[in-house]
Amino acid sequence: MKLALLAEQAAGERRVAATPETVKKLIGLGAEVAVEAGAGVGASIDDAAYTAAGASVGTRAQAIADADILLGVAGPAPDSLTGAKPGAWLVAGLNPFGERARVDGYAALGIEALAMEWMPRITRAQSMDILSSQANLAGYKAVLDAAAEYGRAFPMMMTAAGTISAARVFVMGVGVAGLQAIATARRLGAQVSATDVRSATKEQIQSLGAKPIFVEKVAGIEGEGAGGYAGEMSAEYQAAQAELVSAHIAKQDIVITTALIPGKPAPRLVSDAQVASMRPGSVLVDLAVEQGGNVEGAVAGEVVVRHGVKIVGHRNVPSRLAADASALFARNLFNFLSAYWDKDAGRPVLPADDEVTQAIRLTQNGQVVNARLTA
Ligand code: NAI
Repeated sequence: MKLALLAEQAAGERRVAATPETVKKLIGLGAEVAVEAGAGVGASIDDAAYTAAGASVGTRAQAIADADILLGVAGPAPDSLTGAKPGAWLVAGLNPFGERARVDGYAALGIEALAMEWMPRITRAQSMDILSSQANLAGYKAVLDAAAEYGRAFPMMMTAAGTISAARVFVMGVGVAGLQAIATARRLGAQVSATDVRSATKEQIQSLGAKPIFVEKVAGIEGEGAGGYAGEMSAEYQAAQAELVSAHIAKQDIVITTALIPGKPAPRLVSDAQVASMRPGSVLVDLAVEQGGNVEGAVAGEVVVRHGVKIVGHRNVPSRLAADASALFARNLFNFLSAYWDKDAGRPVLPADDEVTQAIRLTQNGQVVNARLTA
C-alpha cells in the first residue's frame, strides 16, 4: 500500500497534508510513503525530515506512480494527477461546489475523490474534521491580524503617563473560529462581546467571559439548521439583527466576523454605513471573505481602508500558521485513514453503508456519486 504526499500547487498555500509525525504513524500501520520533494517547505518541514521518518522523496510523478492514496490539503488540478492509478483515493479538502469541474476531472481519471471538509459532524468523526481544526487556528490568527493592524493596545494599561483603555472586540459568528477568537481576544486583555444566530452559543460566549449580544423576541431565533450549522434567517430576524448590531458596532474598536452558512454565500452582517459609524482606526477582520464576505467592502486578499477603518480580508488564514495548521490537518487525515484501516487488506476500507463514506465520497469507478453533487 503506497501513499503519496503531494506538494500543494495553489498560490499562497503553505500547508502540507502529512508531517513527519503522521508519516511515521502511517508507516507503522504498514504503508509505504512517497513524498513529492519540497512538499513541506511552506510549513518549515524539509525533505530530510520526511526521509528520517521513513518516507522516500522524489518527483511528483514518482510519488504518484502506483500510489493507492494521494494526500493533499487542497484538491489539485486533475491534469497534475495524470499517471495516477485508477481507483486511487484522493484525500484532501476538495471544495466540491467551488471546484465542481475538478471533481468531474477526478472521475474521468478513475480516481476516488474523498472530500474531507464534508466529514459529518458526528462524535466519532470529530478528530477527522479539517474544518474544525483549521477554523480554530483561523479564529486565533484573526485576532492577531486585527491586533497587528490596530494602532492601539488591546489590554487596559496603567502607566506613569496615564491610563489607556481596553480595546472593545466584537465577534460575529460563534462557531469554532469565533469561540477561539473570543478566547484569544480575552487573553490579550480586550473587552469582548459576541453574537450568533444559534441561541445555543449564548452560554458558550458567557463561559468564555464575553458578553452575548442577541436578538430576542423574534420568531426563529433558534437559528440552528442541519448538522449543528446555521440556517438562513427570516427577513424579520435580519432586520432586528441589523438594528441591534448597528447600535453596538459603533462602539467597537475591533470586529471579527466568521459567519458561514454551508452551501450558501456568507451572510452580510456589516454594512458600509455600519463601518462608517466606527471610529477611525478601528479594524474589521472578515474570515468569511472568500465565501462572499460578511463585511461590505471587504476584498479577498487585501487590507482596505473605508471611512478610516481597516477591513482585513486575508485569504486562507490557516495557511498563515502553516506549521500548526499542517500538524492538525495531517492528524485529521491520519485519524481518518487509521479509523478505517483494515489489517487484512493492509489499507483503509470504506464500507458503502457508512455515514462518513456517504458524506465524503465524491467519485467512484469513473462516476460522480455524491448525492449533494448529483441531486
Ligand atoms: P460555520 O463555520 O458554519 O459558521 C460559523 C458561525 O457563524 C456559526 O456559529 C453560525 O451559527 C454563525 N452564523 C451563521 N449565520 C449567521 C448570522 N447571520 N449571524 C451571526 N452568526 C451567524 O460553523 P462552525 O464553526 O463550523 O460550527 C458550527 C457548529 O458545529 C458549532 O455548534 C460547532 O460546535 C459544531 N461542530 C461540531 C463538530 C462535531 O460534532 N464533530 C465539529 C465541529 C463543529
